[in-house]
Amino acid sequence: MIIAVDGPAASGKGTIAKALAKHYHLPHLDTGLLYRAVAATVMRLELDPTQEADSVAACDFDELTLADPVLRDDEVGQVASIVSAHPLVRAALMQRQKRFAHQDGGAVLDGRDIGTVIAPDATAKLFVRATPTIRAQRRFAELKSRGKSTSYDQVLADIRSRDERDSGRSTAPLVPAADAVLLDTSFLSIEAAVAKAVALVEARR
Ligand code: C5P
Repeated sequence: MIIAVDGPAASGKGTIAKALAKHYHLPHLDTGLLYRAVAATVMRLELDPTQEADSVAACDFDELTLADPVLRDDEVGQVASIVSAHPLVRAALMQRQKRFAHQDGGAVLDGRDIGTVIAPDATAKLFVRATPTIRAQRRFAELKSRGKSTSYDQVLADIRSRDERDSGRSTAPLVPAADAVLLDTSFLSIEAAVAKAVALVEARR
């Protein structure tokens, strides 16, 4: 069973994907971390993330480490959405994600293009969304709890610019797969959202 969970930043897709992996005893990959790891490398080397060739040359794509807490920072997310628009960066990360999705026994992956590009054959595809202001409130609370100093307005502006970049790019833009089911978490608790996600997956098995 392959479960694809796509959606914009702070929609709740990561939380839902983790909970589904636990529920079905499946391995889980947060694919945003791959793009964040590329971004962190580009930032560390002080390269220009808009330059596709530089971003590709800087990275050893098979050796990206995904455990560094710095990857969760908002600045890294912004740069991730710049490097992730480069077709060569996406191509370099594709096989690793496809292999993970198609391993024996199945997997849960969350990202932007799992249902459309990485696993178009997924058993169940969820497209998780929530209004930009609610996503900004969640992300602001999360950053505050991690001791990061930022304003709500800044977080909202970042979310909007990332949405625009992720939806507007020509390679693997953020769009629901034709056969994805939409799950709006704007007014759902985490428990209610997870329960709904499990019910939607059950309906597709
Ligand atoms: O999901 P997360 O916010 O960690 O992703 C960071 C950035 O990586 C996104 O804004 C998006 O540009 C990119 N991304 C992507 N495709 C994926 C996962 C993430 O382009 N499958």
